[in-house]
Amino acid sequence: MHIIHTITELRSWRQQAKRVALVPTMGNLHEGHLSLVRTARAHADAVVVSIFVNRIQFGAGEDFDQYPRTLEQDVKKLAAAGVDVVFAPVESELYPNGIQNYFVEPPVIQNELCGRSRPGHFRGVATVVTKLFNIVQPDVACFGKKDYQQLVVIKGMVQDLNMNVEIIPVGIERAKTGLALSSRNSYLTDTERAQAAQLSEQLQVMAKAIAQGNRDFAVLENSAATYLQQHGWQVDYIEVRQAQMLTKAQNSDTNLVIVAAAILGTTRLIDNIEVHLSN
Ligand code: PAF
Repeated sequence: MHIIHTITELRSWRQQAKRVALVPTMGNLHEGHLSLVRTARAHADAVVVSIFVNRIQFGAGEDFDQYPRTLEQDVKKLAAAGVDVVFAPVESELYPNGIQNYFVEPPVIQNELCGRSRPGHFRGVATVVTKLFNIVQPDVACFGKKDYQQLVVIKGMVQDLNMNVEIIPVGIERAKTGLALSSRNSYLTDTERAQAAQLSEQLQVMAKAIAQGNRDFAVLENSAATYLQQHGWQVDYIEVRQAQMLTKAQNSDTNLVIVAAAILGTTRLIDNIEVHLSN
């Protein structure tokens, strides 16, 4: 496995590689990332995993400085997973002198759901992913469904900007309790980690009700939010949306996703569950 830190070296490796899959990450890898790697391997001859904690997708007061940087352990996991290249650029490679002048600006979706409390986040994601695509020139790239809104933004960007890369969505990996795996779970205390399963439990309750024919989305959203608030969560949003583009769900929609973000202690967690109904 090659560990590459510079764009020049990555480009020269790319010249001799055939079909390449990219898994973009910010490191601190867990089983969710390894599942992305397994999917990537099934779609290409060579797998590149990028590890870069991308400053421009973090807002003021967010956890950029605190974000766990665990390159040594990550490299071991990726070597064991049969990855070909770890691309771990230093910040000055992607943002010389700390400056990025040109940005990829997603449409209104960037201001909704997570975008409401994280202004600029999806613009930062879309911009760095574009840069990574330009550097690695992957044939396919794998993104986790855990970050559902991110996946929708990236798919839209690739389509709208005619990028020559196939986006492959990969399902959520969960702990036995139901808690969606996330690097940010490492911020949770043991007690919080046990309690954190309440978020996915509430999504399950809503999904079951919708599958049974309940179309009172607002009532379902309110009752899940109230339950979580009563158990000490600060709820950012819990909403039923249309699965494809994350537009507001209509009663007649059959492909839905319930998306949620809520804060437990000081940790902001996100989760979602898709509900596909047969008409
Ligand atoms: O999902 C992530 O870890 C990040 O948002 C990504 C896609 C690697 C861009 O920095």
